[in-house]
Amino acid sequence: MNTLHALACMGALLAAGTFVAAHPDTRKALPAASPIYGVTLPEGYRQWELIAPALEAAPLDEIRAVLGNKTAVDAYRRGAQPFPDGTVLVKLAWKQQASAEFATATEPGAPTTVQVMVKDSKKYAATGGWGYGRFVDGKPVDEAQHRTCFACHEARAKGHDDVFTRYAP
Ligand code: HEC
Repeated sequence: MNTLHALACMGALLAAGTFVAAHPDTRKALPAASPIYGVTLPEGYRQWELIAPALEAAPLDEIRAVLGNKTAVDAYRRGAQPFPDGTVLVKLAWKQQASAEFATATEPGAPTTVQVMVKDSKKYAATGGWGYGRFVDGKPVDEAQHRTCFACHEARAKGHDDVFTRYAP
């Protein structure tokens, strides 16, 4: 491609407003979204408030913590279900690990997954108003895994807006 042609291409892209989307570096910088739902890891979630911890028995042997954004925490406090649009819940998980310092203590080992639920009753009308995302090492897992989320949450937690976790006071 000669310089003149390259400039003409850039001009055309800019004119069409597609330059940002077409630029490979910009595309790479976008946070990876889950298949089906397009859910991303929310910014700053590690600073969110704790809703409740959970333990998962063998074979997974995990310690979990569910965190919520402000909309989620307010809804839990008011006991308001269904959760309003804008609610985001994040579940962190680690392998259970015996403490090296104290025999009966169990502590978080290696992190395993981060899972996200985003409430948008219009966008996710077909899945109870929730969009789902499961991330390992910050990257979304495959579509097959994302097909399981709604089915289990809807089957087992339907009476609580598809959310299992209750607020632990
Ligand atoms: C076989 C059942 C099952 C499947 C499949 C499942 N979950 Fe869950 N999920 C649970 C249970 C049970 C909890 C309660 C917390 C715990 O025990 O870890 C939970 C909790 C959560 C929470 C915290 C909010 C809540 O409902 O308590 C999020 C976020 C979440 N899951 C996301 C996902 C995503 C994303 C997927 C799909 C990739 C998924 N889940 C698939 C059973 C399931």
